[in-house]
Amino acid sequence: MAVKSEQTLTEKTKGSAECYKRACQVIPGGVAANIKYFPPYPLVMEKGHGSKLYDVDGNEYIDYLLCNGALIFGHGCQEVFDAVTKQMRDSGTTIFGTPHRLEPEMAEKLIELFPGIERVRFTNSGSEATLLAIRIAVAYTGKEKLAKFEGHYHGGYDRVLLSVNPDLAEAGDADSPNTVPESKGIPDYYVDQTVVLPFNDFEATEKILRAHADEIAGLIMEPVLGGFIPADESFMLKLRTLTEELNIVLIMDEVKTGFRLSLGGAQNVYGIKPDLTTL
Ligand SMILES: Cc1ncc(COP(=O)(O)O)c(C=O)c1O
Repeated sequence: MAVKSEQTLTEKTKGSAECYKRACQVIPGGVAANIKYFPPYPLVMEKGHGSKLYDVDGNEYIDYLLCNGALIFGHGCQEVFDAVTKQMRDSGTTIFGTPHRLEPEMAEKLIELFPGIERVRFTNSGSEATLLAIRIAVAYTGKEKLAKFEGHYHGGYDRVLLSVNPDLAEAGDADSPNTVPESKGIPDYYVDQTVVLPFNDFEATEKILRAHADEIAGLIMEPVLGGFIPADESFMLKLRTLTEELNIVLIMDEVKTGFRLSLGGAQNVYGIKPDLTTL
């Protein structure tokens, strides 16, 4: 939709404004996730097809967002639709609550595609995957702290909701960032237990990791920050070597990059094997 000004947008999206107002009465902030809000109000969609989205006023949009990358094949991809509906029809249900015959088949496929994966645990969300990976790192090393990079997002819970978009006034020096909670309500324990690192600055990262190596169980990272800023190749390779030396579990969070940067994720592109991968 070509819009000349906010005035035009407001005129064309009266339905969205109304839906948003209604949602605000029953949903905090009127949106199901903060990322979905933008001023003056978020556009409210009715349906999607291929590369297009249609809002409640019938406006058509080219969807460059594609559910933040999840819909790599676009909306309502026929092959995906057919496979999912066939599976549901053939199985006669939508959920088992028991193991299913296809689980090892799916796990074998992932192991074949991703250089660093040897075994698979299925989860319901990216947040759950990173949470479990961090727990494994703590259990394996017997250490408790987590290292993460400034600006990297790994889910919406206390352990990782730190220094994702820190206020510049609180962020500290570029080469030794402070640990800044993203929200009120995050206990000090998690702030104390999290070491924040500067992305793509190996010298500073190495200095911090060496200083805290005895306490850091794992280092979690997005190989491409926010899906936009890739790790430098040499940075990534050196990080792999250093974490191995320091007995720090390297967790590559491929929730955004898995199947997208390549079918075998970013680890396939960089040619490294992380200790744990989240998809
Ligand atoms: C890199 C990364 N890790 C973890 C998550 C959390 O995934 P979920 O929203 O499925 O809990 C996201 C979500 O955007 C993500 O981009």
